[in-house]
Amino acid sequence: MSSTSQTPISVTRTRTPQPRPADASLSFGKVFTDHMFVMNYVEGKGWHDPRVVPYAPLSMDPATSVLHYGQAIFDGLKAFRGRDGQIRLFRAQRHAERLNKSARALCIPEMDPGLVRRSFEAIVGVDHEWVPSTQGTSLYIRPTVIATDVMLGVHPAHSYTYFVICSPVGAYYKEGVKPVRILATDNHVRAVQGGLGEAKTAANYAASLSAQQEAERAGYTQVLWLDGVERKYIDEVGTMNIMMQIGDEVITPPLAGTILDGVTRNSILTLLRDWGLTVSERRISIDEVMQAGRDGSLREMWGTGTAAVVSPVGELGYKGEKISIGNGHTGMLTQKLYDAIVGIQYGAAEDRHGWTSTVPALTEA
Ligand code: COI
Repeated sequence: MSSTSQTPISVTRTRTPQPRPADASLSFGKVFTDHMFVMNYVEGKGWHDPRVVPYAPLSMDPATSVLHYGQAIFDGLKAFRGRDGQIRLFRAQRHAERLNKSARALCIPEMDPGLVRRSFEAIVGVDHEWVPSTQGTSLYIRPTVIATDVMLGVHPAHSYTYFVICSPVGAYYKEGVKPVRILATDNHVRAVQGGLGEAKTAANYAASLSAQQEAERAGYTQVLWLDGVERKYIDEVGTMNIMMQIGDEVITPPLAGTILDGVTRNSILTLLRDWGLTVSERRISIDEVMQAGRDGSLREMWGTGTAAVVSPVGELGYKGEKISIGNGHTGMLTQKLYDAIVGIQYGAAEDRHGWTSTVPALTEA
């Protein structure tokens, strides 16, 4: 029978724990904790054998299907150590549900979301000493599912591996929460309706690389993606959702099948509505944004994502024109949003929506 949220998770501890890096040395996703969570799927048996084991390379046959056809999904969430010493996960349930949504898009068998959530708690509980404590640092949790059939036929696999690895992290961008420069591109597209744009799958990130490289060569940090049909409407920025304030309206593109249903996006829209701001999830063209930049009504722009939380945009380039936003400084609303989310994540601000859940340390019996 397939494992459920009631299935026990076995724990095998490492005999060679690694030294933990100093908080001040942390960047994004370069060091990994001592353990990982693993669970397997075989058709007929379902998901089985949930376990925490020492972190180790995965051994794979070169013909393993994920290596050829990219049947892979992932997600990303964080654990925070508050000043009270408690470790909190941010919106673990929503991340578990989104992993299943990505699974459906890639023909990967779904997992019990309660078990997925427990997989996060188990790995963070075992590696609790790896959760850094300085403000701005966290433990990034990367759940991933890969197809493991050894075959070269193009077909959904019959066997899969789910694993969760963790990395103590600092800021995602070297700029930290400083404004970034972004370049709108109409020679590359990230996704089209009917494609994989709303799934968190390796292919979307592979598809972004050449545009990203082009933006970096032109001196920008990220690409502002336009829609794949008319190449006119704004979709996303880099690996994040995008929002902007024009006059008194906060605008973000709608969830219409091409962009990720960001957990930070959802959290920020909830806060903005709590605060009584006018929020529109609507299509917005690059021409409307450039015009707002020229006439001064474009007040602030920011990206939202788990890794960077909120990333202010200080400059927007498009077809050779450059628009400076807020004179290149972080806007007041952007900063307020960052502070509000981070306050909840570290347990310093009231969690009115019940977004955080504490994780107890799993010490050796
Ligand atoms: C995020 O903003 O959390 C992302 O999706 C970035 C990640 C792929 C590193």
